[in-house]
Amino acid sequence: WQAPAAALVLGYLLGSIPFGVLLTRMAGAGDLRQIGSGNIGATNVLRTGRKGLAAATLLLDAAKGFVAVWIADHYLGETGVVAAAAVFLGHLYPVWLRFRGGKGVATLLGVVLALHWPIGLVYAVVWIAMLALLRISSFAGMTAAVTAPLSAAFLGRFDLVLLLLALALLVLWKHRENIDRLISGTEPRVGRKHG
Ligand code: G3P
Repeated sequence: WQAPAAALVLGYLLGSIPFGVLLTRMAGAGDLRQIGSGNIGATNVLRTGRKGLAAATLLLDAAKGFVAVWIADHYLGETGVVAAAAVFLGHLYPVWLRFRGGKGVATLLGVVLALHWPIGLVYAVVWIAMLALLRISSFAGMTAAVTAPLSAAFLGRFDLVLLLLALALLVLWKHRENIDRLISGTEPRVGRKHG
C-alpha cells in the first residue's frame, strides 16, 4: 500500500501548486482570482495581458500532471493511475486556496501525455484546432477533455476509460459557469475582455 499512498500524496501536492496565482503575483500583475473569470488557469493569466506568463502557466500546469504520473509509473510501482487522479484533484481542489482551484484542462493534458501519449496527442490536436477555429478557450478545453476517454477506448486502453471519463466529467463540472455563458452567448473569446 505504500507505493499507491506515496503516489497519492505526491500527486496531490504537485497538483495543488497554483502556478497561475504564483506567477501572476510574482510578476506584480495582481491577484489572479480578482481578475477576469477569477480562474487560476493560463486563459485567465492571459487576461492580465502577460502572454509569457500565460504560456508559462500552461506549461507548468501541464508539466506537473506529466511529472506526477511519470514519477509514479517509474519509481512508485507503476501507480501512474493513482497519481493521475491525485494530481488532477490537487489542481482542482488545492488545500492552499481553500479548495478553489482550476478547471483542469492543462493539467489533464500532461496527465494523458504521461499515461499514454497518443491520447495526449489527440487531446492536444483537438484543443489547438478548436481554439484556432472558435477562439473560445473553455469550449476548446472541454472538447479536448471529452476526447480523452473516447481516445482511450478507440486505442484499446480500456483500463484508462473510466478514469478519464471521471476526469472529463470533472472538467465539465468545473466549467459550469462557462457553460452558462456559452449558452447565453456571453463567453468571451481569447484576447477579448471578460464580461
Ligand atoms: O482552462 C480554463 C479555461 O477552459 C477557461 O478559463 O478563465 O475562461 O474560465 P476561463
